[in-house]
Amino acid sequence: MKLIKVSLLAANMVLALSLGTAQAQNAPKLKVGMMLPYSGTFASLGNAIDNGFQLFVKEQGGKIGGREITYVRVDDESEPSKATDNINKLIKRDNVDVVIGTVHSGVAMAMAKVAKESGTLLIIPNAGADIITGPMCAKNIYRSSFSNSQPGYAMGEVAGKKGLKSAMTITWKYAAGDESVKGFKESFEKAGGKVTKELSLPFPNVEFQALLTEIAAAKPDVVYSFFAGAGAVKFVKDYAAAGLNKTIPLYGAGFLTDGTLDAQGDSAKGMLTSLHYADGLNTKRDNAFRLAYAKEFKLQPDVYAVQGYDAAQMLAIGLNATGGDVSKKDDFAKAVTSATIDSPRGPFKLSKAHNPIQDFYLREVQGKENKPIGIASKALADPGRGCNM
Ligand code: PHB
Repeated sequence: MKLIKVSLLAANMVLALSLGTAQAQNAPKLKVGMMLPYSGTFASLGNAIDNGFQLFVKEQGGKIGGREITYVRVDDESEPSKATDNINKLIKRDNVDVVIGTVHSGVAMAMAKVAKESGTLLIIPNAGADIITGPMCAKNIYRSSFSNSQPGYAMGEVAGKKGLKSAMTITWKYAAGDESVKGFKESFEKAGGKVTKELSLPFPNVEFQALLTEIAAAKPDVVYSFFAGAGAVKFVKDYAAAGLNKTIPLYGAGFLTDGTLDAQGDSAKGMLTSLHYADGLNTKRDNAFRLAYAKEFKLQPDVYAVQGYDAAQMLAIGLNATGGDVSKKDDFAKAVTSATIDSPRGPFKLSKAHNPIQDFYLREVQGKENKPIGIASKALADPGRGCNM
């Protein structure tokens, strides 16, 4: 009698185990919507984010939270007017479980609005619009990158400490440029400097000549600038071609020289910028990441690749805690907000508003690299003004 009971129990266990395996095998694939710029001035940024994300997934054996991944990709063209339609298609037509995107702040703000209203999980792997981790913050919205004012604020402190007194700023006229300049101005003027003129042109224009002439005539102590991608390549080259790099130092948010140095060549030599990543950090974590990335894509990684990689890490931390279930938003949030993310940039935690609290390196362009030469701002947290969560 006893023997039969035991064997029945064993049979039940075998059945339960095999059912469990069958369930895991049958778990539907995790649909990841990648909404990124795959064309236009930010195309290389979108591709680097996509690569970084894929690299982390590959390192996990192709699964996140126990579920295999399938991708749906949308080229958002860095075009805010198409953003709401694009993300709605991903959510309603393609039924994605999570959206990863994007680069451009104007596009990301439209995405965040839809994500907030629909409750769709959104991880932003670049766009720094301050409002997203401010008044628009939400339990289901996360950022693996920065907020726009952060690198500017760090660079204003650097300029102030060097005793520079007058600055002109130049950028594209949209949220990212405006906020980057605002960050610079805040800390530079706190240190006793004065921003004498804020120059701008519409995104993604690259007709810089008239503005460069204005800078040459005004001769400020320093110029602070926010550009990125193909626009940054052209701006730095034009600045040098006008001979301004010999007389007025050009500072920038690190995007000005990140992923761009091959194309900028000598025109970027010696430039100082600030960013939450740099080349040659020479940590075990970063070295392993850089090696794996170079092997996989035959390219050197940049800050965008790191942000894509970390977006995947954050997703994995959240989904490992919920058994792959994206609807368990509280458990997901608890896991991600209490975690230390083991980023190639250095470990970081998220602020209450879901933005990384991180060091901003001061970098100098040496050869084809943005070499870290110090910390511009330590454990800088975006204040998350207006975020009620
Ligand atoms: C932005 O629009 O928020 C943005 C774009 C490109 C960058 C950084 C920020 O490199």
